[in-house]
Amino acid sequence: METIPTRNLALDLVRVTEAAALASGRFMGRGDKLAADHAAVEAMRLVLRSVDMNGIIVIGEGEKDKAPMLYNGEKVGNGSLPDLDVAVDPIDGTRPLAFGRANSISAVALAPRGTMFDPGPFVYMNKIAVGPEAKGRINIEKSITENLRAIAKAKGKDVSDLTTIILDRERHNDMIAEIRRAGARIRQIADGDVGAALMTAWPDTGVDVLFGIGGTPEGVLTACALRAMGGEIQGKLYARDDAEMQRGIEMGYDFEKVLTMDDLVSSEDVFFAATGITDGELLHGVRYYGDGAATDSLVVRGLTGTVRQIKAHHHIDKLNSLTTL
Ligand code: FBP
Repeated sequence: METIPTRNLALDLVRVTEAAALASGRFMGRGDKLAADHAAVEAMRLVLRSVDMNGIIVIGEGEKDKAPMLYNGEKVGNGSLPDLDVAVDPIDGTRPLAFGRANSISAVALAPRGTMFDPGPFVYMNKIAVGPEAKGRINIEKSITENLRAIAKAKGKDVSDLTTIILDRERHNDMIAEIRRAGARIRQIADGDVGAALMTAWPDTGVDVLFGIGGTPEGVLTACALRAMGGEIQGKLYARDDAEMQRGIEMGYDFEKVLTMDDLVSSEDVFFAATGITDGELLHGVRYYGDGAATDSLVVRGLTGTVRQIKAHHHIDKLNSLTTL
């Protein structure tokens, strides 16, 4: 029997992050995080409406009472099949965007209904992420030193040749001390651990591994992307205090459980798209000129492992006339 490939939503999806980047890129350096976020959310929501899917947001801007748009549980898409889970991060790196710094991106992922991990209200996750060469060699239960040795071996390098990437946060002081003792190099980033994790699977970034505690939503998005790009992420929910831990236990969450890539997204049939808002190693930021703008995106499809890099030139007047129809 002839097999019909499932519909490739990659190109629909990249329009979603392009729209968010085009709308929010105007706010670069203006010091107004809320305005930038609002612009990205509105634009992303508008374009998501046109995607052929019956989507439900699993990873969104938060609970409905706090997030009026793109809230967890909101229906998105035009209502036609397939039934999908949707993860959105209209801006990963709101601070870098507001203050004109590097590596702010817009990201979105799709997976079959019921396959994405729902982190509930638990915002932080300890993570380790690597690219394809070190896939299958990491273990978040082991020490940083042991992981660095395993990654170095898998890549045919010395530990001292490895570059780690980690959010610049006080909570990482012990991890950073251990990386230093092990002898690996460190890049500390102010924000944006989705892009940072993807760098481990992207040629010429020089980044070998991401360590550290960052957003849980960002962890699920990263899992969707790395699944398709052939890398790996493992995570563990992280409670900020005993009260949060207790609340999680009562809700049935296990803070000791290792969240593998399968736990974070259990299907291969995933799509992930990201567009640069400010310049970064992974993607260029938005360029505006006269009546148009240029964007730089990547979009990946899990089933085929195809990674597309899409440089697009947008005619702003034409786009505006379409969206007001
Ligand atoms: P936002 O742009 O959504 O604020 O996220 C930026 C970010 O750096 C994420 O990439 C990261 O996962 C998270 O914040 C870390 O949280 P915190 O800033 O609270 O340490």
